[in-house]
Amino acid sequence: MKSLSAFTLLFIFLNFLNADVSFITESEYASQLYHSPRGIGCFKCHGEKGEGKLIATYKDKGEKKYFSPPAINELDYKSFDAAMKKRQKGMPRYFLTQQEIKTLYVYLHPEEGINAN
Ligand code: HEC
Repeated sequence: MKSLSAFTLLFIFLNFLNADVSFITESEYASQLYHSPRGIGCFKCHGEKGEGKLIATYKDKGEKKYFSPPAINELDYKSFDAAMKKRQKGMPRYFLTQQEIKTLYVYLHPEEGINAN
């Protein structure tokens, strides 16, 4: 009897641990993907909310230049999707799944909710 209850307690404890680590909301997942998409986080170049960012200014043949990745939170889903599938100058190539692209879009458009397409 005594060992059975210890086992039961252990079982409950393990379940508790499991529930604790596996529960993550859709928006937490989206935020994680935006910050760490198997490569450099998008936020480092496009800003925390995709608003765009001035990273550096430099001179090229005496002319002042900017490395300022554009805002990406104003593209509609179709343009965002198409842009993610082609090479962008100055941006690493990511090989994201369709679901991941959609998740990133949702992160950049919290007002549209998770059912955006
Ligand atoms: C090292 C910096 C850098 C990182 C990291 C980066 N990008 Fe970019 N991205 C750029 C630059 C620079 C451009 C503009 C390319 C151009 O003007 O030709 C761009 C362009 C884009 C565009 C097209 C914008 C448009 O108006 O057509 C999208 C969409 C985009 N990035 C999304 C992302 C997402 C999502 C991530 C993360 C998975 C990401 N980028 C990570 C630098 C970056």
